[in-house]
Amino acid sequence: MKKKKPKMRRNIATEVVHGQNVLGDRKTRALSVPIYQSAVFTFESAEAGAQIFAKEKKGYFYTRLGNPTVEAFEQKMAYLENGECGCAFASGMGAISGTILSVCNQGDELVAVYPVYGCTYSLLVDVLPRWGIKVKWAKSDNFLTNLKKQISKKTKLVLIESPVNPTIDIIDIKETAKIAHQYKALLAVDNTFASFYNQKPLNHGADIVMYSATKYISGHGDTVGGVVISNQKFIGYMKDYIIRDLGGIMSPFNAWLLLRGLRTMGVRMQAHNRNGMEVAKFLANHPKVAWVRYPGLESHPHYKIAKKQMSDFSSMIAFELKGGRPAGRKLMNNVKLCVCAVSLGEAATLIEHPASMTHSSYSAKALKESGISEGLVRLSVGIEHGQDVISDLAQALDKC
Ligand SMILES: Cc1ncc(COP(=O)(O)O)c(C=O)c1O
Repeated sequence: MKKKKPKMRRNIATEVVHGQNVLGDRKTRALSVPIYQSAVFTFESAEAGAQIFAKEKKGYFYTRLGNPTVEAFEQKMAYLENGECGCAFASGMGAISGTILSVCNQGDELVAVYPVYGCTYSLLVDVLPRWGIKVKWAKSDNFLTNLKKQISKKTKLVLIESPVNPTIDIIDIKETAKIAHQYKALLAVDNTFASFYNQKPLNHGADIVMYSATKYISGHGDTVGGVVISNQKFIGYMKDYIIRDLGGIMSPFNAWLLLRGLRTMGVRMQAHNRNGMEVAKFLANHPKVAWVRYPGLESHPHYKIAKKQMSDFSSMIAFELKGGRPAGRKLMNNVKLCVCAVSLGEAATLIEHPASMTHSSYSAKALKESGISEGLVRLSVGIEHGQDVISDLAQALDKC
């Protein structure tokens, strides 16, 4: 896929504040982008209405087909991701399903990393086959070799997460893009765990970036949203057909909350990155911990790939206690500051058990095959003081 890459001149911490929308609204000079909470926009005349419908003139007329607050979010995301255009969705799952539906037709094949987030897994396993789209899997621990075995002339889309949810395997985006492109397939990357702050898949050859904006972009655990970033042609199709006709739009209020989240993303991500590393090191040295996966630890088997494609390592950690699942359950029941909850990338540290929670759509066989062990505990380290998170985990580990 051909794409123009806008160059970013300032540090990303500055760009999240000032990039793209220095002034929220050019007419009123409001600093914050206003919430255009209107379903309908009026036409100056019947002729103007017809011209806007015919795309001869730019204008808004109905929020499902375009809303200024939602567009401000889409443009800012495209800018921050080094892409041409963005398309917002009601949720991350909307962004993922919208991407697949934009690319794949009946009879096409898709190769996905194994494992993937639980609802992405059930979309691929339970929903897509009903529409005649065949899904093949490439296990994440030796992904490139596995991908080469699964990809074929029928493959239209390669879908990955990196870091992978919940095993925190790292996939080499550049090498994956090379393989996908040899077969004329597109590479779509779910960048939710890393965020554009730490990793820009388009710069490494990916064609499409997808997000659950619910996570680090919102940052406050109070909004559900999704966004896809790619080139003009792809996003144009997505908006014209997938958004307009399937209708899974983002609301103007959610777009406004996400724009607000973006403005503080620099300081938040700095805290997430710092705390992620501190907590990972603490866990790695704890006698009750059997293993830890964090891309910033040299002990991670994919550390070199992480170093190559990530500027920092985010705050998602997978680990297992020597006492397995029962010990993990005790840990979750004894934390006092950390919160036992799914989701990620929000201010508070969240701890959860993928096999029985986020990835409960997997059968016992699929959990085993994909490498999600029964005892795997997933941690999304928040922006509290790192030492407080560590003290809380330490007191809970004492009870395990
Ligand atoms: C990696 C990843 N992608 C996509 C999603 C789905 O996002 P949403 O809940 O916004 O639909 C999630 C949700 O946890 C996720 O972890």
